[in-house]
Amino acid sequence: MHPLQCILQTQRWGPLASVSWLLLRTCRACSSVPSTACPSVEKQQEDGVRKDFSSRLASGPTFQHFLRGTSAPQEKPDMEDPPPYLTVDELLGKQRKVYLETYGCQMNVNDTEIAWSVLQKSGYLRTRNLQEADVILLVTCSIREKAEQTIWNRLHQLKALKTKRLRSRVPLRIGILGCMAERLKEEILNREKMVDILAGPDAYRDLPRLLAVADSGQQAANVLLSLDETYADVMPVQTSPSATSAFVSIMRGCDNMCSYCIVPFTRGRERSRPVASILEEVRKLSEQGLKEVTLLGQNVNSFRDSSEVQFNNAVSTNLSRGFSTNYKPKQGGLRFAHLLDQVSRVDPEMRIRFTSPHPKDFPDEVLQLIDERDNICKQIHLPAQSGSSRVLEAMRRGYSREAYMELIHHIRESIPGVSLSSDFIAGFCGETEEDHLQTVSLLREVQYNMGFLFAYSMRQKTRAYHRLKDDVPEEVKSRRLEELITVFREEATKANMASVGCTQLVLVEGVSKRSASDLCGRNDGNLKVIFPDVEMEDVNNSEVRVRAQPGDYVLVKITSTSSQTLKGHVLCRTTLKDSSAYC
Ligand code: 5AD
Ligand code: SF4
Repeated sequence: MHPLQCILQTQRWGPLASVSWLLLRTCRACSSVPSTACPSVEKQQEDGVRKDFSSRLASGPTFQHFLRGTSAPQEKPDMEDPPPYLTVDELLGKQRKVYLETYGCQMNVNDTEIAWSVLQKSGYLRTRNLQEADVILLVTCSIREKAEQTIWNRLHQLKALKTKRLRSRVPLRIGILGCMAERLKEEILNREKMVDILAGPDAYRDLPRLLAVADSGQQAANVLLSLDETYADVMPVQTSPSATSAFVSIMRGCDNMCSYCIVPFTRGRERSRPVASILEEVRKLSEQGLKEVTLLGQNVNSFRDSSEVQFNNAVSTNLSRGFSTNYKPKQGGLRFAHLLDQVSRVDPEMRIRFTSPHPKDFPDEVLQLIDERDNICKQIHLPAQSGSSRVLEAMRRGYSREAYMELIHHIRESIPGVSLSSDFIAGFCGETEEDHLQTVSLLREVQYNMGFLFAYSMRQKTRAYHRLKDDVPEEVKSRRLEELITVFREEATKANMASVGCTQLVLVEGVSKRSASDLCGRNDGNLKVIFPDVEMEDVNNSEVRVRAQPGDYVLVKITSTSSQTLKGHVLCRTTLKDSSAYC
């Protein structure tokens, strides 16, 4: 075992196993836990301090203390109540500067803000300058091998920074947060001795304690997964004052167990945040003037708030037709349609989006709401992963190509003009050329507006790792991926061409990166729209001419398109409510 003293605990929740390390404060003289026969303790006893030691031991951590937090519901560490082996003072940041770097998905962007919110309350400061950082935290992703390789490379660069650190400064602490901390645990601590702390996705409340332990010269880790942690009471700090939109986390984890996916192992079981706390956050964001909220989670539309007993009746779940789950049917609780309804009522001028959903949970109530409410964007991400029913079965997605296509038709009938996007994996275990061509034909048939395409990357622990063979050669995966990208782009260009000549409502984000004389924003379908920054009429005040500012809604007449962007000229400033000017 590593010289840092770990208590290893293994706990099983259904198919998930998690190992948690809870650190004991060790004797600095010999690294043993103070209740064992440690030479320096014996010396203290000889020196006549037995009484003092006994009383400290009595107030120290008990076995129960280390069990705390391993059972659901998990008790949250509290600044007022430090663990017995640390003082409140040791938990404080004392103005040390934290540099946070985010990798991977939008959930990680949100998690970064949660981690920062926790540290800010503890007295840490944030810096955007790596050179002035006292603590560097990487919020990591494990979904594909390449994502992890990026982090290993980054760690090597940071090692140089740590080695060169002047002795006159406080020691630099480096931490790995998120999915990679959860997946690789000891491997990171053993391979990269300069990593001081590891915190899994459910351990961000513990960051002040982990950093305090690191200050005593030990590595510290908490990779415990929780059954109920949603950080409901930790409001992420809005870091950019000019931001027009924000992400609001509504659920965490995933129970689907698609055979290729590491997420259920790194982020744990599915759990939803209470509706009331989500609404409170959305209200605050609206008061701050934000104009767009994206509801976030691994399976947003599987949302189920069971925190209020009166809603826990036995109403069963309606899955999309032809879809099944890998888990026992769940019942009761407040569902996604209820949440979407409530969130969209907070501020009619605030756009609502959600990502990422699973195709199995699209009941008609959800589709109807999206169609009816002006401020719910008519944009649905519908990850297909493959166009071959044979591969979909091997992936354990719970649907066939036919069921997926039926859902696409149903969605298009229910929400005219809806914009669709999807995820695809090229070269999954056993994928033949014929399977690949089925995916190509699905891309042509659906004609998505946006797509996220990946080459398959085998992940340990997953069902595919244990049961299937990663038998598509890397060069074949790459070639198939290139083909999918080409077809997707051709089809998206055609789909976007249909917008030429239309007038679209655009939420302005700011100056275009390509040209200072252009502005950029997003249309309802979340596509980027570029237009010249010129004076225009304001529909609510025809006397003045205005220039668009970030957070304004403007009408833009689309004049040209590519697979990723639309271009046009601006007509007027408007409001979401007043803008029914679509094609
Ligand atoms: N290899 C490649 N892509 C993956 N994804 C998830 N796991 C893997 C993997 N092992 C993709 C899926 C998912 C998206 C977030 O990442 O398409 O929808
Ligand atoms: Fe992974 Fe499937 Fe869960 Fe998405 S739904 S996070 S792909 S297991």
